[in-house]
Amino acid sequence: MSGDRTVLGLVGSPNKEGLTNQLVSAALESAAQAGAAVELVQMSDYVVNACRDCLPWVCLKNLKCTYEDENFEILSQKILNCGGLVLGTPVYWMDTSAMVRYLFLKMFRVFAMSRPLMGLPAFGIAIAGGTGNGLAFGLRPVYHFFQVMQMRALEPVPATRFDLDQAVNRAKELGHEIAGMTGKRHSFDSWEECLLWYDRLPYIGSNRAAERRLLAAITSEAVPEGRKSDIDGDLARADVLAASGRSLDSMTEISKVVNSSSKILSEK
Ligand SMILES: Cc1cc2nc3c(=O)[nH]c(=O)nc-3n(C[C@H](O)[C@H](O)[C@H](O)COP(=O)(O)O)c2cc1C
Repeated sequence: MSGDRTVLGLVGSPNKEGLTNQLVSAALESAAQAGAAVELVQMSDYVVNACRDCLPWVCLKNLKCTYEDENFEILSQKILNCGGLVLGTPVYWMDTSAMVRYLFLKMFRVFAMSRPLMGLPAFGIAIAGGTGNGLAFGLRPVYHFFQVMQMRALEPVPATRFDLDQAVNRAKELGHEIAGMTGKRHSFDSWEECLLWYDRLPYIGSNRAAERRLLAAITSEAVPEGRKSDIDGDLARADVLAASGRSLDSMTEISKVVNSSSKILSEK
């Protein structure tokens, strides 16, 4: 139902009270304050089975998994019928959790050809709650899912434990924004427009060096004023090295900043 005003929040972590839940809940609270109906779903209550590749490929016509999978049926119906989607995943080895991937793969198989989610407003949150590595890479599969489905994605929220408060605030801002987009679809005029829309979104096209640079900025920013002088490495120098083509030296400098900042923050 494309006219639905409910913002659906999916928590893709097995830890129901963890940081993913905190971020998705913040987005939904804000959406509710902005007048939307909201529903939070713990994906760990509905873990989807692996796609078994039905041959012949009939699920794309039946719009239903060929095999018994009640959890997929429940989750996919909630997604198909919502008016806006907030999808949160923990970052596991620079990727999403497995339960999030299983859902995407089955959604692709059943719905990618008919695209019933076209124009649905959505945004993704990835929480790299350990070292912070993967804060951007973890968002990629989420936005790949949105893009294949031609959903109208808002900016992603990369989050770490070092900038959690800012990430929560960003999730709230986007929760407010998505609430105002429910009730109708925001489809692209063409496939090309959709591709360019996704190319313009921040973070998801980051390479490893850019992601590490982002993490260095976040960790060094989180270091208390009185300890800033203890940070080893210099981001301005790293940028100069990168600009002059000395990528390895730049990356080494960036790592010094990340490692020394993380060490200081772990002492707090
Ligand atoms: C299998 C596994 C892999 C992980 N990989 C990463 C990682 O690549 N980067 C990172 O910053 N944290 C990593 N973590 C830490 C989680 O991102 C962190 O615990 C996060 O808070 C989990 O979300 P939750 O609190 O909602 O459960 C990993 C945790 C697990 C269990």
